[in-house]
Amino acid sequence: MSQTLPPIAAARLPALLAALPKAELHMHIEGSLEPEMIFALAARNGVALPYASVDELRRAYAFTDLQSFLDIYYAGASVLRTEQDFHDMGMAYFERAAADQVRRAEIFFDPQTHTARGVPIATVIRGLARACADAQARHGLSAALILCFLRHLSEREAFETLEDALPLREHVIGVGLDSSELGHPPEKFARVFARCRELGFRLVAHAGEEGPPDYIRRALDVLSVERIDHGVQAVHDTALMQRLAAERIPLTVCPLSNQKLRVFPELRDHNLKALLDAGLCATVNSDDPAYFGGYVNDNFQAVFAATGLTAQHAWQLAHNSFEASFAAAADKRRWRQQLDECFERHRT
Ligand code: ADE
Ligand code: ZN
Repeated sequence: MSQTLPPIAAARLPALLAALPKAELHMHIEGSLEPEMIFALAARNGVALPYASVDELRRAYAFTDLQSFLDIYYAGASVLRTEQDFHDMGMAYFERAAADQVRRAEIFFDPQTHTARGVPIATVIRGLARACADAQARHGLSAALILCFLRHLSEREAFETLEDALPLREHVIGVGLDSSELGHPPEKFARVFARCRELGFRLVAHAGEEGPPDYIRRALDVLSVERIDHGVQAVHDTALMQRLAAERIPLTVCPLSNQKLRVFPELRDHNLKALLDAGLCATVNSDDPAYFGGYVNDNFQAVFAATGLTAQHAWQLAHNSFEASFAAAADKRRWRQQLDECFERHRT
């Protein structure tokens, strides 16, 4: 979709990006646990950490690929024990998101990371759902939860997790698929996604982060997902790119994550501009902001500075984020109007 926009000088672009109303659709709440909060929760819950200090933990955040990150990310989540812990983690993120002008956040959580340690799924969901309600009440920020199945675990374990979550179904808008991608193709979860679809959940999946374009195609065809998380490997498949553009299938792209996990050698090599210029419904998101060096606005600022995106791209990204969200149509209309007002305010 192209739009005639008010003229905006390049020098005003950083201020525009900071003020842009937006939706964040790819953020793992466990990945928002800052080292300081990991230490505070460890002390609160009497959990021993294999790091002497916040600085030592932060120094361990030197990743070479997705798996090297996941190992430390699951270890960090081990400090979460009580409903209050999940609530506090959620609120810390929502405060940051509200400051970044996020109007809508659809956040991932990984229940199996917690139930494996004996934390009941109800503790996880109730704590996060209370944070979502508080985000709306305190910041007018609309929030929803997406339950992710860990793809390195079995389909049977995914089914058990689904069963476990059903009594709290009203708090969960959709399901997703995350964790180690290579060697765990979408079809491993075909039946559990089919069941989730019957139950009325919205469906998303990580695909084409490190995995091949064909994982994206199979996530669409076998799992019937409505959005692809990451999806940046699609550029290697022309027919797939044409399909993603024609069907307006959203990609939730995470530039700083891709840089830190070496999906691209440098941020300047990121293909976000190519995705947008090919007409795909790409969006910008933070993935695991505490681990990858920034929240959603940091992602906008860094990828714009590194790749030369313009005000037109900024409008398109924000517009795409509302289009791609699972929010009500009336909310989307209101946020799009705020987007146009934001552009007027930044007119040169
Ligand atoms: N879990 C948290 N972050 C993830 C990512 N970037 N890819 C897959 N699983 C994840
Ligand atoms: Zn992710």
